[in-house]
Amino acid sequence: MCGIVGYVGKNQNSLSVLIEGLKSLEYRGYDSAGIAINNQGRIKIIKSVGNIANLERKLDKKILSNLGIGHTRWATHGKPCLKNAHPHQVGKVTLVHNGIIENYEKLKKSLQDEGYKFKTDTDTEVACALMDKIYKETNDKLLTMQKVKEMIEGSYALAIIFADDIKNLYAMRKDSPLIIALGKDENYLASDVPAILQFTDKYILLEKNEYAIINALNVKVYDNNFKEIKKQILTYEGSREVAMKNGYEHFMLKEINDEPMVIKATYEQFINKNLKELIDNMPDLAKYNNIDIVACGSAYHAGLVGKSLIEEYANIPVKVELASEYRYKKNFGNDSTLTILVSQSGETADTLAALRKAKKEKSATLGIINVVSSSIAREADNVLYTKAGAEISVATTKAYLSQVLMLALIAINKAFVNGNISSKEEKDLLEDMQKLPQEITSLINRKDEFASIAKQIYHNNDVFFIGRGIDYALSREGALKLKEISYIHAEAYAAGELKHGTISLIENKTPVIAIVTDETIAEKTISNIKEVKARGADVTFITTESLNKKYAQSDFYDRKIVVPSTNKFFQALLTIIPLQLLAYEVAKLRGENIDKPRNLAKSVTVE
Ligand code: AGP
Ligand code: GLU
Repeated sequence: MCGIVGYVGKNQNSLSVLIEGLKSLEYRGYDSAGIAINNQGRIKIIKSVGNIANLERKLDKKILSNLGIGHTRWATHGKPCLKNAHPHQVGKVTLVHNGIIENYEKLKKSLQDEGYKFKTDTDTEVACALMDKIYKETNDKLLTMQKVKEMIEGSYALAIIFADDIKNLYAMRKDSPLIIALGKDENYLASDVPAILQFTDKYILLEKNEYAIINALNVKVYDNNFKEIKKQILTYEGSREVAMKNGYEHFMLKEINDEPMVIKATYEQFINKNLKELIDNMPDLAKYNNIDIVACGSAYHAGLVGKSLIEEYANIPVKVELASEYRYKKNFGNDSTLTILVSQSGETADTLAALRKAKKEKSATLGIINVVSSSIAREADNVLYTKAGAEISVATTKAYLSQVLMLALIAINKAFVNGNISSKEEKDLLEDMQKLPQEITSLINRKDEFASIAKQIYHNNDVFFIGRGIDYALSREGALKLKEISYIHAEAYAAGELKHGTISLIENKTPVIAIVTDETIAEKTISNIKEVKARGADVTFITTESLNKKYAQSDFYDRKIVVPSTNKFFQALLTIIPLQLLAYEVAKLRGENIDKPRNLAKSVTVE
């Protein structure tokens, strides 16, 4: 989600505080950024798409300014682009906003009827215009903020500059966070503590429905009735890194807990009411009758899930290739091939090289990328952004999940275009999709259940994951998660393949994690589970509520994890959650460095 930073001070440090503060909020995820500063009595706005470095390149660092606001945007209304980046300015009002103005369309219409013209597609510009209108009517800033609060619905944290008062910052918030930090002859505004820790550790929490007027020497806070109130000054004790973890012990656990919001933010880019929106909001996929998915590591495993869904339900052939192989081998892409490059960082050297090769071989290219304006995002013909926000832990969780969802949405798009989704199926699918954030939350809340299973496997040096079809694809990711952070040798096997050699490794107590969610081949996989059980394996059975009805009393497993049954397009999104948490808990029991595993980098930008 976005970030807000504000500065007001005698030391004229606006530019450096805003930029350094926004950089400290990058971990929250964003697609564009901007600042507004007082420049000799004029409010100057500079914005950029992509990362903060792009904004920094546009700044004249020599400018001294006593007052400014900055923003990193996570688009909700209006695509990520320069004009939609914050700050927004209407008349005397310049502001940045974190949140969603839910009644912005109605407000926009009435403002347009009064002659207001809008330059952007955002809800924020509407709040800005409304504030300008009311300020013109009342000529009273506090009264203006109060009236705006009464007229807007939704969530907001607003940092505001009034052009006729360049000594004061104004702030108001409802649901989105905002803090006021206290320095020497200067004060700050920020969405979160990490943004100001390099300047001060003293801060005030602006609570819901409170307002503030901040200048270089003092801070005034008003309650909902505009009565000035005394606020407790807090001192932050931890490090910046601790602050960025939002109270979680590891970034990996924080990022798993981000997953419900990430899934919602990812699908809401394309779908709210019907599948036709999906066709309208995605690049045209109809003309491609074969797809190559090229990626590395977990992104490759996401591709395997995508293959299973696109082939099964959209009925078109999909090849999934390791980028490090693809870039040197003979390929058969042509003008009816869509080559999809999946990459969290958008900077993985092998995947970038694969993209360039695909383009040379005249294939259309589409990036499924998390980092806005990264190299792959910029060079691909089209890009779909996973809205996972910044992912700090080397072991990907929320980005992988949003990659799987994005590929499921492509499968749904192609299936819908091919007429393979009935209106009843469309209704069920949309209902199932809206339930995903809550179902993921409920799985995450079962963390203790997975921790107790971790206790039973963490001491092993070898663990096997088995499954068939989409469950084999999930096994691949489950095995990678476990091995990369716990250093246990974990291997994924197609369940039907065990008898062709690997079953020779199964002996008494060998841990096997068996995934069975695909009802069409459940019996086959269960036969394979019985084969390993018969040779002494210790089996953890992962299945769905509907399949569990059939196997609840069976004896082919030692323990089981039952995940909610959901739509066939989305089942993988739920099944992987226990595997992510299991890996996390095992690594914790083994005392390993979960966020920074040995030998690994977050983005492999070398061959
Ligand atoms: C996954 O946990 C690993 N960090 C690694 O396999 C990663 O998925 C791979 O390096 C690809 O990275 P990318 O998505 O940034 O291209
Ligand atoms: N809803 C606003 C927009 O889309 C603010 C989003 C944010 O919190 O960054 O511009």
